[in-house]
Amino acid sequence: AIPSLHEVYKDYFLIGAAVNPTTLNTQQQLIKKHFNSITAENEMKFERLHPKENEYTFEKADEMMAFAKENGIQVRGHTLVWHNQTSDWIFKNEDGSTVNRERLLERMKSHINTVMERYKGQIYSWDVVNEAVSDSGSNIFRDSKWLEIIGEDFLDKAFEYAHEADPNATLFYNDYNESNPEKRDKIYTLTKGLVERGVPIHGVGLQAHWKLQSPTYDNIRQAIEKYASLGLQIQVTEMDVSFFEEGDKRTDLLTPPDDLLAVQAERYQMFFEIFREYKEHITSVTYWGGADDYTWLSNFPVRGRKNWPLVFDENHNPKKSFWNIVEFN
Ligand code: XIL
Repeated sequence: AIPSLHEVYKDYFLIGAAVNPTTLNTQQQLIKKHFNSITAENEMKFERLHPKENEYTFEKADEMMAFAKENGIQVRGHTLVWHNQTSDWIFKNEDGSTVNRERLLERMKSHINTVMERYKGQIYSWDVVNEAVSDSGSNIFRDSKWLEIIGEDFLDKAFEYAHEADPNATLFYNDYNESNPEKRDKIYTLTKGLVERGVPIHGVGLQAHWKLQSPTYDNIRQAIEKYASLGLQIQVTEMDVSFFEEGDKRTDLLTPPDDLLAVQAERYQMFFEIFREYKEHITSVTYWGGADDYTWLSNFPVRGRKNWPLVFDENHNPKKSFWNIVEFN
């Protein structure tokens, strides 16, 4: 028999999947059996929820919340303040000029309030700020309208507003390349500042968009230890294990080669061994999808290739990667 993934991990952490309105149907059985947490892949992002200043569109997000409630599944919120998938109106005055700091803060607060109050008590953790740190160079911050208009304290404000809106939700800073030593140190510096200033941040989200080749296990361990040393929780928020490096276009591969599936399974085994080792710090592990029939990494043919980054295959059957993470002790 195939064990339920979240039952296997009940003494460790929640097991989550990102879902969208399509997979909520096509992967429904799989989700109910294996996951006790879900995240909206896109439906709680700013542009989806708040396309115009006085117009909120909550239908899709509400449907997901209702599904979660009916099935006793918890929900992780993603995301409130981000440079992507954010409607441009928030940065503009009626005449098209750029808003000032005060006005942007007001709008940020109002968005955070409205969204978090609607789902108050039903979302255990929120990605309050997503991807604010730069990938290269010496700057800590990535360029963004939030930074440009508000300044470096836009994170402080976002976390303060979020904490006011739902004092029981745990609040996360979430980012990718989180295990890369240079970026890790910047994320650490940023979140350390927040903690030292008494800003209500409770955790660091490791997106964990990992690959067959990278990151190293050592770098993952060090990232977890470094963030946890601030007294913050860790959640793995968007895990997938891609077959390919950036820009690697294997348009010839229509099914996953066995040798690469074997490498992926080894990687998954070790990743989860590490997660179990740090179970005092890690409170939830979410995959960025349910099964290989749908993944954002397989934007075929737009990106020119397929990808098989999850632990269930295109027919929702367990892969070697699945067996490697459920068979331990
Ligand atoms: C991705 C979604 O999966 C895609 O459907 C969408 O087109 C773009 O965004 N980091 C994040 C997620 O925080 O929100 C992103 O999700 C993947 C990278």
